[in-house]
Amino acid sequence: MHLSPSSPIGIFDSGVGGLTVARAVMERLPRENIVYFGDTARVPYGVKSRETVARFAEQIARFLLAKQVKMLIIACNTMAAVAYDTVRALSPVPVLEVIDAGARTAVARTRNRRIGIIGTPSTIGSGAYVTAIQRYDQSGMFLATEACPLFVPLVEEGWLDHPVTRLTAFEYLTPLLAQNIDTLVLGCTHYPLLKPMLGSVMGQGVRLVDSAEAVSERAEDLLREMKLENPGQGEPEHVFHVTDVPQRFREVGERFLGRSLGTVRVESLC
Ligand code: DGL
Repeated sequence: MHLSPSSPIGIFDSGVGGLTVARAVMERLPRENIVYFGDTARVPYGVKSRETVARFAEQIARFLLAKQVKMLIIACNTMAAVAYDTVRALSPVPVLEVIDAGARTAVARTRNRRIGIIGTPSTIGSGAYVTAIQRYDQSGMFLATEACPLFVPLVEEGWLDHPVTRLTAFEYLTPLLAQNIDTLVLGCTHYPLLKPMLGSVMGQGVRLVDSAEAVSERAEDLLREMKLENPGQGEPEHVFHVTDVPQRFREVGERFLGRSLGTVRVESLC
């Protein structure tokens, strides 16, 4: 397969959450063409079986590979946790994912070697973050995890600094605060939208690791290593594919992306 610098980067998620990763990639790599896929008809993945999530991930990866992408970014912690090997096995192009990038950054940032990790029940239940952190640190850091299932619907609702969200955050995060962690991994692509609120709940002594930023840094390094950075001077092309356009998709999506979505194409994968 011939990879060209002008080929797009393929980014995918179960829905709109991965747009936080797309945004980080657009900000870090403003010349890159991007094809985004959000499986909005079948979200959420965080409560589905491993087999189902792997099957969906394979369908999406094949769709993006047919668009001649030069790199795939799994912008969904749940898919990264349970379907990375499936995607890696079928992809002739490099595959990046949010868990490895977030784990690597957390290990580099902690000073007291006590890390907290929050995510969907599937991601936390898979143990993927613990395994990934142990890959970068074999000396046995203290790790505390917490599944935060209510954050995704609260973010979808746009309640980013709502009293209900703040109360929910206190409920989920108090056990982590009690563990004296100095680093908290936001292990779900929806959570970066809650960053200001989560930061105020955790306090200044806790660094928040945003997997979106971490994976965009990794994408930049990898493109440089492969000599596949797009040198184009014109406006890059950003195309968004979804499997359904729910009522508030554009509004929520633009909040995630921080800019207009432009053209959104509806696809069927079945
Ligand atoms: N985007 C997913 C993640 O990062 C959360 C939403 C879902 O459950 O599909 O885990």
